[in-house]
Amino acid sequence: MKIDILTIFPEMFDGFLKTSIIKRALDNNKVEIKIHDIRNYSKDPHKKVDDYGYGGGRGMVLMPQPIFDAVDDIKTDSSKIILMTPQGKPYKQSVAYDLSKEKHLILICGHYEGFDERIRTLADIEISIGDYVLTGGELPSMVITDSIVRLLDGVIEEESHINDSFNNNLLDYPVYTKPVEYRGMKVPEVLLSGHHAKIKKYREEEALKKTKNRRPDLLEGETNE
Ligand code: ADE
Repeated sequence: MKIDILTIFPEMFDGFLKTSIIKRALDNNKVEIKIHDIRNYSKDPHKKVDDYGYGGGRGMVLMPQPIFDAVDDIKTDSSKIILMTPQGKPYKQSVAYDLSKEKHLILICGHYEGFDERIRTLADIEISIGDYVLTGGELPSMVITDSIVRLLDGVIEEESHINDSFNNNLLDYPVYTKPVEYRGMKVPEVLLSGHHAKIKKYREEEALKKTKNRRPDLLEGETNE
């Protein structure tokens, strides 16, 4: 998979691309991620990418020209173009799975007070990572990239994400490591038993209990569509 990210703050991605599983996936050629500075596409002599909004009342608005030109340059027949905006479709694990099957994603990070409405016409999907407003689309595009890359073949063991929270509309079961007892808290006996069928049953029950307590909406199947 290839992911191209359009941003006016490319430096925000430095740590993200150089750390942990994303770094390993890049090193092992499981994914190619390119960060593009939208300013490089500006036709303005001062590399300006935003201006005051018509009608007043708002701050700076990202202009269409640099973003349209960047997309024209990067887009191929197999590209899916995603616009990061709090007005978009709520992001969910099921969307991450769908996107992980794509060949090429282009993520556009909005900024400042907003972006020119015409930029929306470029997007195949608009995505929101939650009902709150961030200063820009950079963190959302990292969230989306991270959640997709970990699902790509060979990035993490399949077993690690098959039991993820939200698969089958359930939260993940609890896990424990050493020591067997810590500050009076003991690892459940069944996990030490080596009895696979019992462990499986315990985990299914715990996942269901946790989901009922914390996210009953998931069991109604409302939020994971
Ligand atoms: N840009 C600003 N806030 C956002 C959000 N919640 N989701 C996606 N993009 C955003």
